[in-house]
Amino acid sequence: MNVVDLITRKREGQELSGAEISYLVDEYTRGEIPDYQISALLMAIFFRGMNSRETLALTESMVHSGQVMDLSHLPGLKLDKHSTGGVGDKTSLVVAPLVAAAGAYVPMVSGRALGFSGGTLDKLESIPGFNVRLSLSQFKATLQNCGCALIGQTEEIVPADRKLYALRDVTATVECISLICASIMSKKLAEGIDGLVLDVKVGEGAFMRSLEEASELAQNLVSIGNSMGTKTVAFISDMNQPLGLAVGNALEVVEAIETLKGHGPEDLTHLCEKLALKMLTLAAPPEKAGAAREKIAHLLRSGKALEKFRQIIRAQGGDPNVIDDYSKLPQASHRRDILAQRSGYVVTLNARMIGEASMALGAGREKVDSQIDYSVGILLRKKIGDFVEKDEPLATIHFNRESKFQEIRDTVLTAFAVGPARVDPPSLIKNLVETSL
Ligand code: URA
Repeated sequence: MNVVDLITRKREGQELSGAEISYLVDEYTRGEIPDYQISALLMAIFFRGMNSRETLALTESMVHSGQVMDLSHLPGLKLDKHSTGGVGDKTSLVVAPLVAAAGAYVPMVSGRALGFSGGTLDKLESIPGFNVRLSLSQFKATLQNCGCALIGQTEEIVPADRKLYALRDVTATVECISLICASIMSKKLAEGIDGLVLDVKVGEGAFMRSLEEASELAQNLVSIGNSMGTKTVAFISDMNQPLGLAVGNALEVVEAIETLKGHGPEDLTHLCEKLALKMLTLAAPPEKAGAAREKIAHLLRSGKALEKFRQIIRAQGGDPNVIDDYSKLPQASHRRDILAQRSGYVVTLNARMIGEASMALGAGREKVDSQIDYSVGILLRKKIGDFVEKDEPLATIHFNRESKFQEIRDTVLTAFAVGPARVDPPSLIKNLVETSL
């Protein structure tokens, strides 16, 4: 097969066959096709899209680029969740230990920051020593001992997504339904799970800005999961404003721990409870939902979910003392408040701008090999619907480079619109997609 011909055909909007897609994925994974050709192919896919046959073929090729885990020796349910990416979305850090504390296994293969959105792996790596690069055998052992393990794509598990994910991040080819579907579902289907709950984000700080696009993405994800034998459902949730108050890696770890301690922001706590409940009741009759809800509340109240997180951190080489002493996490050298320029109600709080400001601080990557600054980020002090007095803080910026501050301050200030009329905060959960296309 000729790679240039395949790129050309996709550029012209033609369908690629399963064999052609599999050739491209396999050869790229083996290093036989260079990044520049796959970058061109990704851009052609971005503009021309893929139909459902191509998307399924891409997903299957990516799943089989590495090993598919067999966890049948573990008793009980193997469950996972995955978000399509947002700003301040640290739900995995709460939900994974919570569901593991409830007795299920959570074998989570996750991703890094993508564009302006944060990544679970980067957040975890802000915990000193935390190793997200476990070998497959270490991953399985941790899963067996703790009920949960969190890693990234490796040479052994979805190596194709490992390369494609990093390439999409720096070639402006993230916001594409087929590429998102294949990326997410390849990771999840390689885990050998019984059930999957997806959180499809919609709004300014999501890859899908309209409800229509988010619904299409959710339908496609659910369809691929179910057709490949994994019970899959998808929530569609708001990402017009950031989730919770913290944006930036170490700051988000603190907020996740606070949530596990029962002191998290209301929106984040609510979404985590909803995701965990859906995971635990995916295969259960509706009358079991009450007991599962009780169990979740108990695990949070009693500190058992928090203790599970401590156990996971320790098992993956991290410093578990961060749970009791946040100063053990990376700290930025400066903190400065952004003050409201007028009194009024917060009408909009643009999640994308906050994500971009956080990236500009150093919390994300601009190139494949950019180093992340785990300590920096933005702590929101007001959200949509809150009243703010003139000169009261809207947000606090945690930063290390003074030279960047002014530009970032302006972005954060622009992200907030303050007006005289009270508005209701956007509803958090918009929809639940349970059936395939
Ligand atoms: N999360 C992923 O794993 N992949 C995407 O493409 C987007 C979000």
